[in-house]
Amino acid sequence: MNISLRVWRQPGPRAAGRLVSYQARDISPDLSFLEMLDVVNEDLIARSEEPIAFAHDCREGICGTCGIVINGQPHGPGRGTATCQLHMRHFRDGDTLTLEPWRARTFPVIRDLVVDRSAFDRIIQAGGYIDAPIGAAPDANTILVPKTDADLAMDAAQCIGCGACVAACPNASAMLFVAAKVGHLGLLPHGQPERYRRVRHMVARMDQEGFGSCTNYGECEAQCPKEISIAFIARLNRDFAAAGFRNGKDA
Ligand code: SF4
Ligand code: FES
Repeated sequence: MNISLRVWRQPGPRAAGRLVSYQARDISPDLSFLEMLDVVNEDLIARSEEPIAFAHDCREGICGTCGIVINGQPHGPGRGTATCQLHMRHFRDGDTLTLEPWRARTFPVIRDLVVDRSAFDRIIQAGGYIDAPIGAAPDANTILVPKTDADLAMDAAQCIGCGACVAACPNASAMLFVAAKVGHLGLLPHGQPERYRRVRHMVARMDQEGFGSCTNYGECEAQCPKEISIAFIARLNRDFAAAGFRNGKDA
């Protein structure tokens, strides 16, 4: 396959950026999207040009490090697929692809396609700890969890913190991410002691970081590589309202 690329190049956080054209030649349809970029970068390095910076780690949809907006879609056209799991066979020979970083004020560009998502780390940090003693694995098995709750908690726990939900949302809202994190622990017995304090603190931090409000566009769910349901946002709203009625008793 031969693919034309228009790639956002930005040397640093304060530098101006622009789209630069490249050719990806003789690309096997079996290459992953990131492997295609590796090939382009090898070519750039061979010509003593600066390679394209993009974030990646596990390359198997687990770590949440990767993330490129491909033709306007965070993580590209594959449903339930992180950028690293996308393969070139999903495109056609001769296609032109525009690659951009996550676009959100809360995720400033560090370089090219790499953004700073430490705002997510600070939201997680605001959630705090779990003080329920859970012991080792055999002890954990003695804590009974209803199957429906366990399944739902596992659905929420699949969130890899990639930030595609923020990039997809016209409001740059982080509600799906926060809802997944709050929902995951709020459904389990271990998460109950700090349940309402956690939701209050995480939502406050989300607002402090400058993420937008949720107005139910649903773009977050559509682009989420783990297909986290926006029903978790309704659950978050319920927990947040319940936390308000507790008058800070668990602050
Ligand atoms: S909710 Fe989905 S899109 Fe948002 S951070 Fe988690 S995995 Fe990524
Ligand atoms: S590189 Fe880890 S999820 Fe894509």
